[in-house]
Amino acid sequence: MTEAVIQAQDVSKIFPTRKGILSALEIFSLDVHKGEVVCIVGASGCGKSTFLNIVAGFIPPTRGRVLLEGKEIQGVEPRCGMIFQNYALFPWMTVLENVAFGPRLKGVSTKRRHEQAHRWIAMVGLEGFENAYPGELSGGMQQRVALSRVLANEPDVLLCDEPFAALDAMTRQIMQQELLHIVHKSQKTVLFITHSIDEALILSDRLVVMSARPGRVKAIYKNDLPRPRILDMQLTDRFIELKREVWELVQEEVIGSMTAPRLG
Ligand SMILES: Nc1ncnc2c1ncn2[C@@H]1O[C@H](COP(=O)(O)OP(=O)(O)OP(=O)(O)O)[C@@H](O)[C@H]1O
Ligand SMILES: [Mg+2]
Repeated sequence: MTEAVIQAQDVSKIFPTRKGILSALEIFSLDVHKGEVVCIVGASGCGKSTFLNIVAGFIPPTRGRVLLEGKEIQGVEPRCGMIFQNYALFPWMTVLENVAFGPRLKGVSTKRRHEQAHRWIAMVGLEGFENAYPGELSGGMQQRVALSRVLANEPDVLLCDEPFAALDAMTRQIMQQELLHIVHKSQKTVLFITHSIDEALILSDRLVVMSARPGRVKAIYKNDLPRPRILDMQLTDRFIELKREVWELVQEEVIGSMTAPRLG
């Protein structure tokens, strides 16, 4: 096994709130290896986004640490690219300008960054839409732009916080296959949060089930389903068996979270 790209070691996060302290994550540990796709599923509010925000360096952990290629993450980490649920595009910029934005900040020349942007836009199948504004695109197309904008920064690690949750089922499946294609071609390491167990089983090499808040690792599955994970595979006995097993674990935690005290 290659060395872990991400090593989360006993990460805890406590938020001060008006009603007292809220423990969002508790002694959460996870290794993610190079080229691996790890999906995290868990009840709403169990700390998934909190964990991803810590890995991205947006917020610090209260205790514990996260290492990226052996070094502790201290601030916003340019080697990690985050894809959010709500696209997070600049509405006043065209598709091309959105995708070229990161390289522009890095001082890449206009000619070069536009060339690169064209390549990423083509890779997500949006050739011809370079001069469109996000408001003129469908949700699926906007999420493709968001994906190519993150890829244009050439991150080693893709952090995905339910990026396909707002998409219709068909577009979602297409985006999943596209992401897998890009990831395998470019050997990216991916940490992907989703509410959908189907999505986690389609995408992941390993699947992490989180406990109810405060979030801990409840179980880790090695996903041995064959690839490509196309529709037929989703009808196999093994897929259905795994789905049921993960669903039962998540459900236990959802029920637990509804009866747990709100703070503390
Ligand atoms: N900045 C903050 N200040 C106070 N509490 C916060 C803050 N961010 C998150 N929390 C709390 O931490 C807990 C975990 O939130 P988080 O957003 O990580 O959940 P999640 O697992 O991503 O949920 P969902 O699936 O609904 O997106 C929640 O109870 C939330 O209210
Ligand atoms: Mg979240």
